[in-house]
Amino acid sequence: MTLLGATGSIGASAVDVMRRHPERFAAHALVGYRNVERMREIALQLSPERVVMTDAEAAAQLRERLPPSMRVDAGMEAAEAAASDPDVDMVLAAMVGSVGLPAALAAVRAGKRVGLANKECLVTAGHIFMDAARASGAVVVPVDSEHAAVHQCLVGHDAGSVSRIILTASGGPFRERDPASLRDVTPEEAIAHPNWDMGAKISVDSATMMNKALELIEARWLFDMPADKLSAIIHPQSIVHALVEYRDGSVLAQLAWPDMRAPVAYAMQAEPRLATGIPMLDLAESGRLDFQAVDEARFPAMRLVRHVMQGDDSLAVAMNAANEVANEAFRQRRIAFTDIVPLVERVLERTHGHSVTELDEVWSVDAEARRMAEDAIRNDA
Ligand SMILES: NC(=O)c1ccc[n+]([C@@H]2O[C@H](COP(=O)([O-])OP(=O)(O)OC[C@H]3O[C@@H](n4cnc5c(N)ncnc54)[C@H](OP(=O)(O)O)[C@@H]3O)[C@@H](O)[C@H]2O)c1
Repeated sequence: MTLLGATGSIGASAVDVMRRHPERFAAHALVGYRNVERMREIALQLSPERVVMTDAEAAAQLRERLPPSMRVDAGMEAAEAAASDPDVDMVLAAMVGSVGLPAALAAVRAGKRVGLANKECLVTAGHIFMDAARASGAVVVPVDSEHAAVHQCLVGHDAGSVSRIILTASGGPFRERDPASLRDVTPEEAIAHPNWDMGAKISVDSATMMNKALELIEARWLFDMPADKLSAIIHPQSIVHALVEYRDGSVLAQLAWPDMRAPVAYAMQAEPRLATGIPMLDLAESGRLDFQAVDEARFPAMRLVRHVMQGDDSLAVAMNAANEVANEAFRQRRIAFTDIVPLVERVLERTHGHSVTELDEVWSVDAEARRMAEDAIRNDA
């Protein structure tokens, strides 16, 4: 396996699953960005054939801290090579943001089994990514818990009989907070998710529900479903991960304790199932499972995404890029929490809708949206 984003939160879940099943999985390459200490730790645990840090300085530091026999490469091209190496069967795509697209796409083009956590790949280049998978025979298996749940509810069923796919959303840490007080929330409060322990960017995306917006676009490409068959529902306990409704009125759901090792293991090997060490569900103990409609006034990202899904692909690229800028600016305390989604909306209002069929077009829309978002932040400062 090659782990892209090995040093992150999803990377940690994958390392845990690999270490529980050493007879089944071996690391070909571990890929990170700048976290030298964490990379050193997991490289010593998994003994990969090579380690890649996409940041050259981090690669140089790591080289000094690992045994000379362990190969350390630098740069995104080395990450792409590690993802498409003929010795690799499976690639876990778990970098964060659209920066992960080239390496994940290299894996898809090389026909690998790809466990896809890096949802921004499908949001920005869904067409290109899934066309490449069809052409190469790559199998793309979702890692996002909701999409892994949908995948499990679809297996063995006729996709034409599906009337609706419903992704659940916890509602994040501010689901019940007075909207008037949201302006003052700190990055620390936004990152403290009630149910999931995740990386900083996705935690903030969960608090704005931009994460669910990105997931609806991701679901459209993964399951080849029209936007009007995709929806979300608030489920604060994060036990039911998604539901698939069939035209006969049957609804299938997948339930599990909220721990990413389960969907990561499922992406690595669906059947026979792998032991993951996550707690078994005790529904009598859980007692109740609650559901409620998404309040779009509280979570305007969910209103925005309907507009984006009805429009051309460039809107999704711009939404993602503007959100990456706004999310980071909030974490750097340059803007308020309540500025994030309006900033994305402003960029979308100024984005020309058109289809995106080439990677160059993705990068040019992405760059323009980032520029508009940065300008807006500077002008408002
Ligand atoms: N965490 C979850 O529970 C969860 C659930 C569902 C989906 N996802 C998705 O999975 C992806 C990863 O999320 P995460 O929570 O694991 O994020 P994370 O903990 O922040 O980890 C991100 C990983 O990407 C690497 N990275 C960051 N910037 C990079 C760059 N410029 N070039 C190359 N690598 C870079 C990081 O390397 P360094 O550590 O070396 O900086 C790290 O390995 C995201 O797309 C997220 O939406 C996550």
